[in-house]
Amino acid sequence: MTRVGILISGRGSNMLALASAVDEGRIPGAVISVVVSDQPTAAGLDAAKKRGLNTTVIQRQGRSRDEHDREIVAVLKAYGVEIVCLAGYMRLLSPFFIETYRNCILNIHPSLLPAFPGLDAQRQVLEHGVKWTGCTVHFVDETLDGGPIIAQRVVPVLDNDTEETLAVRILEQEHQLYAEALALVISRKYEIAGRRVLRKN
Ligand code: GRF
Repeated sequence: MTRVGILISGRGSNMLALASAVDEGRIPGAVISVVVSDQPTAAGLDAAKKRGLNTTVIQRQGRSRDEHDREIVAVLKAYGVEIVCLAGYMRLLSPFFIETYRNCILNIHPSLLPAFPGLDAQRQVLEHGVKWTGCTVHFVDETLDGGPIIAQRVVPVLDNDTEETLAVRILEQEHQLYAEALALVISRKYEIAGRRVLRKN
């Protein structure tokens, strides 16, 4: 089994989607070992507990990013975590964290990267006026939302979309995409060639 740790800061709907996918056998070989939140009031924490998942809160509490991340990594290691999924985790990771889990950290972003990285991707999409957007699961490296892309899905932007309506339609796709991408990574049937994540048989 491959032990997965999920980091959240808020609602946790992607975390729950991954948990459902594991329960339904859509991510063969995966077990979710722990859900870590940097926010004690994150709604996703309660939802994770209700599902019977292990949860831990690790607040930043005025510490440096490096100190905070070292505590998170220590908890992940204590749970034997091999793959880390960021699911609405609202902090950048330290070089130490990224190096410790090099090519083993996944993130989901609500746009077709490299377009519209960073915060408020749906707002950026509407302000720019693009007709198509979507979501991306990528490996995390030192760049903001810039690591090798594992999988993407396309979502149309409708004339009457607001940030909220667009976010809802993208989120539906995120929930499916994240499970598919994690299943691919856990299957190890891929290779990273430069920036490209290529499927192997
Ligand atoms: C999602 O839109 C995800 O793409 C982005 O933050 C949001 C988190 O939502 N990184 P949730 O906490 O998973 O519901």
